[in-house]
Amino acid sequence: MLIDSHAHIELKEFDRDRDEVIRRAQEGGVECIVTVGIDLPDCRKAIAMAEKYEMVFATVGIHPHSVKYIKKETYDTLRALAAHGKVVAYGEIGLDFFRNLSPRDVQIRCFGEQMELACELGKPVIIHDRDAHGEIVTMLEKWNGSVRGIVHCFSGDYDMAKRCLDMGYYISVPGTVTYKNSSILRDVVRKTPLDRLLVETDCPFLTPEPKRGKRNEPLYVTVTARAVATIKGVSYEEVARVTTRNAREVFGLAVLKP
Ligand code: NI
Repeated sequence: MLIDSHAHIELKEFDRDRDEVIRRAQEGGVECIVTVGIDLPDCRKAIAMAEKYEMVFATVGIHPHSVKYIKKETYDTLRALAAHGKVVAYGEIGLDFFRNLSPRDVQIRCFGEQMELACELGKPVIIHDRDAHGEIVTMLEKWNGSVRGIVHCFSGDYDMAKRCLDMGYYISVPGTVTYKNSSILRDVVRKTPLDRLLVETDCPFLTPEPKRGKRNEPLYVTVTARAVATIKGVSYEEVARVTTRNAREVFGLAVLKP
């Protein structure tokens, strides 16, 4: 059984057939889905999903794209939402210097404020990093020892991975690992110990080959796990067993679902 450590099943792309998507995942060997909030209305939807489906857990946080809308009271709302019993992490938070939908200085300030809040809440963080590797590592180092979690959809090289691993972070591998031009990510997967890896879909985005271009869904985390098994030269069952244990550890799922 696998855990999809990063999905967005609350998004409108799944409104028409969400029940079926969840059922397919369950039948295909996915035991848990962590659906990740990106702004306040979306965090509420993510929690509603976790309330509706037993196998779904939620996270809350403001994505770097949307941090420009943060007001002082936003953090009080997030604090209240994070108290929900099925909220297992704080995120996704971080820096996106590719799209720059929020100004960079605002992204950095709000990333810091949210790291601080995650620390206060005692939640693991889910980190979004696009074209901001150096700045991300610098920020994680500031909270080294007081916050840890997951670098989601890892896009750096092994040098960066090593620095994150040394701070206790897990590296989460998305479906892009199956893409022809993802040799750097495959190198990271090869060199990172299996007991520090997670697998994710980031659905409805980043669909693995051979379905690239179509909508992604939690079932396809199995495709990514197979790719990881091939790269590391271990069995699919071993990847499933160890990444599931890792996800349970970081999200504290063992407590919620023994
Ligand atoms: Ni995401």
